[in-house]
Amino acid sequence: MKFSNTLIYWQLQNNRELPWRKTKNPYFIWLSEIMLQQTRVAQGMAYYLKFTAHFPSVFDLAKADESTVLKMWQGLGYYSRARNLHFTAKQIANEFNGKFPSTYKEIIKLKGIGDYTASAIASICFNEPTAVVDGNVYRVLSRYFGIKTPINSSAGIKEFKALAQTLLDTTQPGTHNQALMDFGALHCKPQNPLCETCPFSNSCVALKQKLTKELPIKEKKIKVKNRYFNFLVIITDDNKTILSERKGKGIWQGLYQFPLIESDYNINKDELVSSENFINLFPDETTISLFNKKEIVHKLSHQHLYTQFWIIETATSSKAKINWKDIKEHPVPVLIANFIEEFLSKSN
Ligand code: ADE
Repeated sequence: MKFSNTLIYWQLQNNRELPWRKTKNPYFIWLSEIMLQQTRVAQGMAYYLKFTAHFPSVFDLAKADESTVLKMWQGLGYYSRARNLHFTAKQIANEFNGKFPSTYKEIIKLKGIGDYTASAIASICFNEPTAVVDGNVYRVLSRYFGIKTPINSSAGIKEFKALAQTLLDTTQPGTHNQALMDFGALHCKPQNPLCETCPFSNSCVALKQKLTKELPIKEKKIKVKNRYFNFLVIITDDNKTILSERKGKGIWQGLYQFPLIESDYNINKDELVSSENFINLFPDETTISLFNKKEIVHKLSHQHLYTQFWIIETATSSKAKINWKDIKEHPVPVLIANFIEEFLSKSN
């Protein structure tokens, strides 16, 4: 049987009585879809009933104070949803005479409405064949088809949307979309899905390959930390510099580097020379210039290093033990190796 037929057959047997299922009024459907984002149906229901009783039309919502709207939203969280809702209600009331746009293309232009909400409204209210992809849909499709593409990657977002679109029953897109969301919420649940009684169990890839727990796959987004490095490139009168081994765990362990002062942002020369670290290193007179006028951004997997190389000329330094002519014998990070190449080529 076709995917959508099986799905809609399941829906007929498991239909939920939900207040927003009794209407095709786009104002009510819009409210319900915004409320149900990041919110469970059971919790969203009370808010939906309260909201629609208080603001029975888009004009009522448009003329309310923002504080009243936020008060009614209290407890639902993600308050930008309520602010956007209010903004868009005013636009629909004032600019469109209260008439909700009736195509996906027009609906998605509204503030606070993305692909999911535009597809839901267009299909449920206007019968437009636009597939919805929410968390439930990702779960059902990734399991049934055994898709391992991360659902939060741009490739995944495209792939699942395209697949959902090919499966859509274009004669009843609203029913199909809501059935798929319901099926994900009630049957193909995140934990303990009801595989024994599943109408798709004969052809579900995840069930066959024991991948139900693994799917869908979500890519871990790594948080990148910005760091600001100031390397002090010393040149003594007898052509020596300071280079020392990086100790301890972390990036570049065991490699050599120039003395490093880390700052909270890209500092200027005055800030550098007045820093405690600098005064400790160079109590005597020095001549300082910034080698790279624009910071060098060195990107590592978890860190972006905004780097400045400061050329420090000083008569002597007891710590300067490395001869400039031997500098390339030391293992250094690429960032420093590149600097050394450029610096030597410019000073020859
Ligand atoms: N979750 C959010 N919107 C829904 C809808 N229209 N039907 C089922 N589940 C939903």
